[in-house]
Amino acid sequence: MREALEQLQRNAEAELNAAGSQEELLALRVKYLGRKGSLTQVLRQLGNVPVDERRLLGQFANEIKEALSAKIDGALQAVASQDRGNQLLVERIDVTLPGRRFGLGGLHPITQVAREICDIFSGLGFEIAEGPEVEFDYYNFEALNIPKDHPARDMQDTFYIGGNVLLRTHTSPVQIRVMEKQKPPVRIVSPGKVYRPDSDVSHTPMFHQVEGLLVDRGITFGDLKGVLTYFVGQLFGRDVALRFRPSFFPFTEPSAEVDIRCVMCRGGGCRVCGQSGWLEILGSGMVDPEVFKNVGYDPEAVTGFAFGLGVERIAMLKYGISDIRMFFENDMRFLEQF
Ligand code: DAH
Repeated sequence: MREALEQLQRNAEAELNAAGSQEELLALRVKYLGRKGSLTQVLRQLGNVPVDERRLLGQFANEIKEALSAKIDGALQAVASQDRGNQLLVERIDVTLPGRRFGLGGLHPITQVAREICDIFSGLGFEIAEGPEVEFDYYNFEALNIPKDHPARDMQDTFYIGGNVLLRTHTSPVQIRVMEKQKPPVRIVSPGKVYRPDSDVSHTPMFHQVEGLLVDRGITFGDLKGVLTYFVGQLFGRDVALRFRPSFFPFTEPSAEVDIRCVMCRGGGCRVCGQSGWLEILGSGMVDPEVFKNVGYDPEAVTGFAFGLGVERIAMLKYGISDIRMFFENDMRFLEQF
């Protein structure tokens, strides 16, 4: 019986050493010292032991019991105080630390530049108009004098949703939507997303444009030149030279593209401007009489000019960014610079 007690003590101590948590320790106490515990059971059998051995054996068993009980209590306390210590480590509050700053969000650089562009025109009395990104073929092409099967459609291939519905390839359809609803005079700018199936360092399938339209009696190409010259001066600085270059758009006649002196090489010729010294920044022109007819305006009574520019392109030139895709990769190290 003595041997059984010693074995029991060894087992209990081994298990005690291995126990790390409060649950394990409490389970050990039940296992050995509980009412049905193994040590308790040995003690109960003492009655069967011859009287002369009973006293010594009883004493020995009690010693084991007390020792085990004390060790479990000690271990329980150690675990509890360690838990408290850990908790304190976690919860400790240093009231002398400065408060935590919450990072303020910021506007995406494209949003910032689009707003800057619109603000310049707002200052000239232009209103902001918006149109849908999912558009009808009619507004995106036909009403803008780009008939079905006309070669001019090749300039702007697009994503078709099906039937007559597509993702708009430019913001020009907003011109039509505004003129359908409103009699002249009209003076609007329209920022927004547009879509084309292109993708490389200077093209993303989604990008942003700002459209402009001004219609009234007696508007001339001189007004177009004056407004756009003022605009470029505000955006890039008045010392940046610009030129109007003849071009073609189905919805304007005559049409012109506006170039600015290359902001990288200042006209000397570099990779960004393709050695030409000039950078194209927008398309423009006098509204084609066909377009006026499509919205019920009388081309004999009113004239107007329109323009469209790419926001990403302007932002790239303004900030010296060489890869348009950086705008949409959502890398915080890039975005936080604006
Ligand atoms: N919509 C044209 C494009 O995306 C840009 C443009 C050119 C808009 C001339 C105009 C304009 O309003 O008059 O390529």
